[in-house]
Amino acid sequence: MKNFLLNMPTEIFFGKNQIEVLGKRLEKENVKSVLLAYGKGSIKKSGLYDKIISQLSGISVKITELPGIDPNPRISSVAKGAELCRENKVDFIIAAGAGSVIDCCKAIAAARYYSGDPWDFFIRRTSVKKALPICAILTLAATGSEMNGGCVLTNEETQEKLAMGSIRLKPKFSILDPTYTFTLPKNQTVAGIADIMSHVFEQYFSYPDAALQDYMSEAVLKTVIENAPVVVAEPENYEARANIMWAGTVALNGLLELGKDGDWATHMIEHELSAKYDITHGVGLAILTPNWMKHVLDGKNCCKFAKYGRNVWNITEKDDMKAALQAIEKTREFFNSIGLPQTLSEIGIDASKFDEMAESALKNTIVGTFKKLNKDDIVEIYRMSL
Ligand code: NZQ
Ligand code: ZN
Repeated sequence: MKNFLLNMPTEIFFGKNQIEVLGKRLEKENVKSVLLAYGKGSIKKSGLYDKIISQLSGISVKITELPGIDPNPRISSVAKGAELCRENKVDFIIAAGAGSVIDCCKAIAAARYYSGDPWDFFIRRTSVKKALPICAILTLAATGSEMNGGCVLTNEETQEKLAMGSIRLKPKFSILDPTYTFTLPKNQTVAGIADIMSHVFEQYFSYPDAALQDYMSEAVLKTVIENAPVVVAEPENYEARANIMWAGTVALNGLLELGKDGDWATHMIEHELSAKYDITHGVGLAILTPNWMKHVLDGKNCCKFAKYGRNVWNITEKDDMKAALQAIEKTREFFNSIGLPQTLSEIGIDASKFDEMAESALKNTIVGTFKKLNKDDIVEIYRMSL
């Protein structure tokens, strides 16, 4: 295990009715002016918007709203949000929604103190020196953005989708009420589940080995696999929603990657799909993941895939390579069983941009640490996914 630093400053208020802490918690921060950001309307339909307004009306705070943040959030919303923060002397941001809203708010929090183009953060032309504090009120279990310092934005002009992160962007506190996920349509619920599992895979299939992190990863996977069919069949099953929600947070709050170099290849090549075709992140991951696994599998690393198969899927096969192949098949079957697409063709994507996307993924970075991928590898994974 490598040396590591653990810093988890985000307070988590987990459970039913935790929204009731919002007003008091903001008062404690001495907040005078908030930016309330949300997506395309789900929080209004579910009644969460009214609950937030009721909390804010109980304290003396100015409210500026930023509605309409897109899934796969756009950098243009960041510039708009930063301007609203400056004009209204905003001193705290409330991100009410799923990963896209939270990510957009993190970028706004940083862009508020930067006079240049907010895209500069994503192309590493600048770094986050200062940021507004934010809180996340989560409505979809998927990204882990509610407890990490990362954000992923799309530049609609260049068709790039890039990530950046800073400890300064970790939410001050987050409210995780599983009942807010009852209203999710099935396709978003299952895409979130694929995203959570992919986050675990990206860290589990990486070097060096770290025993506790691996056991914790296997526990997160088992929790998700057990509870996924339940939330699909019974969207209002509180315990199952709660288990999935907490698994989503633990999957990407830093714990599973401590002392390791995460792989993240599947994410990088998925972000290319989302950038070019505006598809749902978790859907792209569900299609690519079993194919990434098959492509990188070799005689040296098959023991890790076999370990995953034995500990997560109870595979009894003694031969590592055979157990590894069975584990990959189990993964594909599981995604299929909860209703996720299995091929790019099913979601209307053909081979025409495979070369372009592979080049773009490799533009400024290495893709993959568990196995480093070159352009031919990435094109092959896309082709296997057709
Ligand atoms: O816009 P609204 O009306 O809110 O509807 C949203 C949106 O259409 C809807 N939704 C959310 N909660 C709902 C709901 N509908 C009904 N009831 C609810 N309770 O779901 C749709 C998808 O929302 P989105 O925010 O895009 O989903 P998700 O949380 O999966 O976020 C995906 C984004 O996060 C990035 C992805 O690349 C993608 O852009 N990621 C962020 C990461 C991070 N910050 O650490 C890591 C991830 O790997 C990922 O890359
Ligand atoms: Zn993800």
